[in-house]
Order: sequence, then C-alpha cells, then structure tokens
Amino acid sequence: MKCRICSHEITPFMTFGRMPIANGFLTPKDFKDEYFFELKPAFCTECLTFQVEDQPPPEMMFHENYAFFSRTSAHMQRHFKDYAEWVMENHLRGADPLVVELGSNDGIMLENFAKRGIRHLGVEPSANVAEIARQHGVNTLVRFFGAEAGTDIAKEYGHAAALMAANVMCHIPDIHGIAKGADALLCSDGVLIFEDPYLGAMIEKTSYDQIYDEHVYIFSALSVANMFAPYGFELIDLLKQETHGGSMRYVLARKGSRPVAPSVEMILAEEKAAGLHLPETYEKFRQACESSKERLVRLLNEEKKAGRRVIGYGATSKSTTILNYCKIGPDLIEFISDTTPIKQGKFTPGMHIPVKPYEAFAENPPDTALLFAWNHKREVMDKERAFTLAGGKWICHLD
Ligand code: TYD
Repeated sequence: MKCRICSHEITPFMTFGRMPIANGFLTPKDFKDEYFFELKPAFCTECLTFQVEDQPPPEMMFHENYAFFSRTSAHMQRHFKDYAEWVMENHLRGADPLVVELGSNDGIMLENFAKRGIRHLGVEPSANVAEIARQHGVNTLVRFFGAEAGTDIAKEYGHAAALMAANVMCHIPDIHGIAKGADALLCSDGVLIFEDPYLGAMIEKTSYDQIYDEHVYIFSALSVANMFAPYGFELIDLLKQETHGGSMRYVLARKGSRPVAPSVEMILAEEKAAGLHLPETYEKFRQACESSKERLVRLLNEEKKAGRRVIGYGATSKSTTILNYCKIGPDLIEFISDTTPIKQGKFTPGMHIPVKPYEAFAENPPDTALLFAWNHKREVMDKERAFTLAGGKWICHLD
C-alpha cells in the first residue's frame, strides 16, 4: 500500500482480522448483511505516520444515525469547557474573532463559545448530532470539512482565528484536504488546534482498541509536524491530555507567525526516546497485542468455568476491536450495559453481544464487569463504588 500522507510504499505490520463497523450496532434482521473489512495497521518510516490500510467508505461510518454522542459523559463536558476556555484565553485575537470546529458533533465544545457570544461555526457531517448541536444554540453546517469547505466558509463568514477539532482529525483520511482547508480559512496568525488519541500513550499501554475503522491515523507529534509542513504550518505547542485514555493536543500556526513553546522540542525528543520513529517499536507492539488477547480470553474462560456472570461496561467503539480481535461473543459476556439510548436493545458489531440500558447492570449486578469504557475509569469507579464495595470484580484488557 502507499502511505496516505507521503505515498511512500508501506506494508501493514499486523492484522486484527475481520472487523465490522465499530459503531455499527445492529438488530438481528441486519446480521446477514453486516459489512466487514480487514483491520491492518501500518507504519510509514518516511513521514512516521501510524495508519490503517483499509477503511470502510465514510458514508458507512458517519451518517444520519451516527451512534456517537459526545454529551454522554460528564467528564467530557468538563473537558470541552476547559478546552474552549483555554482557546479563548490563549488563541483568540482581534475584534470579533471567528472560531470554526470541524466534526463538532452535538456541539459540546462550541456551546461554550456560543454562550459567550463568540462568532462560531460547527462543520459536522452527521445530521442527527448536528441537529442536537443546533438545539443547544450552536450554528452548525452539515458538511464534511476540506479544501472546498474551507474556501466557502472563508468567503461567507470571513477568515477564522482558530480552526479546532477534537477526536476528529484522526478520522479523516485526506489530511491534505484539511491542510488546504485550514490554509484557505485561517487568518495570517490563525491557529489550527486539534486533539486525538496519542500514539505515545497507545504504545505505552498497548491500548490497541484505539485502532478501529474510524481512526485511520493514530498521531504523534513527529507525524503531525511532517503532515502540515508542506502547507507552511509548524507545531507551536503540544499539550498532553488524559481524555480517551491518553490524547495529545496539537497547536499549529503558519511558520514564524507565533512563538514556539518549549513543549514542542521536549515532546519530540520524548517520542524519539520511546522509539516512535522506529519500525521495531511496532513489532513489539504487535507482540504485546497478542499477549493481551491471550490473557483476556483466558480470564473470561476462567470466569465462565467458575460459573461467574460477566457483563461488559460501556459499548464503546473501541470494544469492537477487542471483541472481534479476541473473538469474544455472548458465550463469554452476557450483555454490555451502555447509557446511550441509540445503542440499547441492539447488538454489538460482529460478535453480536446484546447491549442493554445501564439499569440492567445496576438492578442485577454481575460477579465481574469488563470495563470497555476504561478511558472513563475515574468517572465509572466513582459511580460504581457500591458494586466494587460489594465484592464486584473489575477486569480490563489493559491490566
Ligand atoms: P467513548 O468514551 O466515547 O469511547 P469510544 O470512542 O470508544 O466509543 O464511549 C463511552 C461509551 O460508554 C458510551 O457509549 C457511553 C458508555 N458509558 C456508559 O455506559 N457508562 C458510563 O458511565 C460512561 C462514562 C460511559
């Protein structure tokens, strides 16, 4: 295959096998038509970008029934409020600045700008979540962002002071289109700010479940610097985040237009020390994934043998990779509890484990809970103190 960024010839270093659409929760009538593809990650030694080879067509993942709503977590609401305030304090200059967010989902971040009367625009391809954003007073355009959208928005609304994204950029195969769109949209000292699951954290934790259809890339600072350099952008700041099990916030500006924070050099050096630029790191990661899989399947079989009930906690997109890679089905996990109404009453993609409302967990707690929403561990542990204190056991593929 050719690298999606620099066209260098690359080969996947492993396969997770046959995968369905990660957020494709379905009903039994749709089982027979379920779409599958092979999930194979690859690393480019030229531009240092971690990517997946095959990706289903975007319309299959992002549509009017997109099952992902950012508002489901109280901690994420807090996170986006902090993110928005940080942008306001540090990066909005000039009179009446415009902020644009791509993949603005249900408006969880932009509502913070809307409430302060700051000019804003969300660009969101999924109509159902965009509608919720509008209900929260967030101006939203139902559209994919790219070179053309950047040009059109600049024409209609003027140049933007900040173009932001959260957990979106890594979903977009055509980063070149985004870079061109940013170039067309941003004013001369405008900033491009985005955060996504961080490759450094994924390698450190073996959190391979970050890899699923929607995440076509898992970025590092090394790769982001290389991606945007041809368009005249440079990294001016890097901020590690706890969200999504370890993320990075990347801040870019036109070269020379803004001072570069010391974090940039520091984190680039840290990534080199961790070997994120070396192919052998990914061979080690492959081995660590295999060990994690063996351990989880062994644990679940032991629970089953001991006659203990196991329930999954949080029908995350990430869990689709775990369940299908490890081939874990309803024989090992009775059901998965999830607070998202659109997922409830459906079955998980590929392995077809029932998804039930949270009440099904709370009213009849299992012996063991498999924490798929591990990125919300603190929030979940606070909420489930009674279960834990009563002797409920937690397991996770990462432990
Ligand atoms: P998320 O963190 O967005 O992960 P992903 O990007 O992998 O989908 O999803 C969290 C899921 O877990 C979401 O479907 C809601 C659910 N959830 C619960 O059911 N209970 C909880 O207490 C929390 C925090 C999340």
